[in-house]
Amino acid sequence: MHERLQAILSEARGEVAAASTKEAVEALRVKYLGKKAEFTNLMKGLKDVAAADRPAVGKAINDTKTEIEAMIEAAAERGKKAADAYDVSFQAKRISFGSKHPLSQVIEEVCAIFKGLGFRVAEGNEIEDEWFNFDALNVPANHTSRDVTDTFYLDLPQRDGYKKLLRCHTSPQQIRIMANEKPPLAVISPGRVYRPDAVDASHLFMFHQIEGFAVQEDLNLSHLKGVLQKFAQEMFGKETQIRFRPSFFPFTEPSAEVDVSCIICKGKGCPVCKRTGWLEVLGCGMIHPNVLKASGIDSEKYKGFAFGMGVERIAMLRYRISDIRMLIENDVKFLEQFYEV
Ligand code: PHE
Repeated sequence: MHERLQAILSEARGEVAAASTKEAVEALRVKYLGKKAEFTNLMKGLKDVAAADRPAVGKAINDTKTEIEAMIEAAAERGKKAADAYDVSFQAKRISFGSKHPLSQVIEEVCAIFKGLGFRVAEGNEIEDEWFNFDALNVPANHTSRDVTDTFYLDLPQRDGYKKLLRCHTSPQQIRIMANEKPPLAVISPGRVYRPDAVDASHLFMFHQIEGFAVQEDLNLSHLKGVLQKFAQEMFGKETQIRFRPSFFPFTEPSAEVDVSCIICKGKGCPVCKRTGWLEVLGCGMIHPNVLKASGIDSEKYKGFAFGMGVERIAMLRYRISDIRMLIENDVKFLEQFYEV
C-alpha cells in the first residue's frame, strides 16, 4: 500500500508540473480527487485491511490525498495569475475616445490666454434685443445690419419697444457687463452668434465669436495693441507680428482691423494669405463714448477698448480647413483628426 501511494504521488507531481493550461489542471483534479479516482477506491478497500492496521493505512491515504490537493490548488493559482498578466501578443479591441471639437479647442485656448492676462470669462445671452445688440452699441437706426436680411428677429413680446432677436455679434455682452458692474473691467466672452446668411463653404447662419473688452481710467490704444500682440504670440507663435489697419465700427472710435503675420508661411506669402503675408483675424477699437454712456459709465473718467474675433475663422486657418460646413457636420472621421493628447 505504501508503495502504491508513493507511486500515485510521484505520478501526480509529474503531471501537475506538466499541466500548462487551466483545463489540464482541472482534468488532473478530476483524475486524482474525483469520484472515480484511485483514492476513492483505496478508501473503499479500507474495510478489507486488518483492523489493527486500518488507522495507519487510512491516515497514509489521507495524507497523500491532502498533498495532491495542495499541489493542484497551487497549480490552479499559478494559472490564474498567468491569466491576469498581460498577453502582449493579444490583438486588443480598439476603443474609440471622444475628442474636443476644434471650435471648443480654439475657444478654450483663447480664453486661457486672456485669463492669463487678467481677463475674466463671462458668457452672454443668445437671445438679445435691439437695445443691447444695436442701440446701446451706437448703431444708427438706419444701419443695414438691422435689416431683416442681416439679423434674425424673433416673434416674441418686445421689451420697452425693443424687438427681440438672435444676437448677430457678441458685442451686446459689453453692454450687459458695463451696465451691471463697475470698472475696472476686463472680460472675455465666447459664444454663438446668428446671421441670416446662405450657407456655403465660408458662411454659416450660426457661428462663434469671442468678444473681449476692458474699461478703466487712462486706458489707450497702446494698451489694446499690447494685449493683442501678446495674444497673437501666445496663440500663433512667438514670432507672430500684428498690424492695425484703420477701420470702422459704430461702437469703437478709433477702430481697426487686426492682421497677424500668416501662420502658414510666416509672412513670406502663400495661397492661404493670398500672397500678402497677412491674415485678418479680428476687429477692435477704443469703446465709443456713446457706448460707455449708454451703459451708465462716466465716459470722461473711464476709457475702454474692445475687440471681437471669429472662432471658425481662427480654427480654419489653424487647422487648414477649407470648408466651414465641416465644423458643424459632426463627421467622426473629420473630428478624429483633432484628437488632443
Ligand atoms: N462686433 C464686431 C463684429 O461682429 C467685432 C468687434 C467687436 C469690433 C468689438 C470692434 C470691437 O464684426
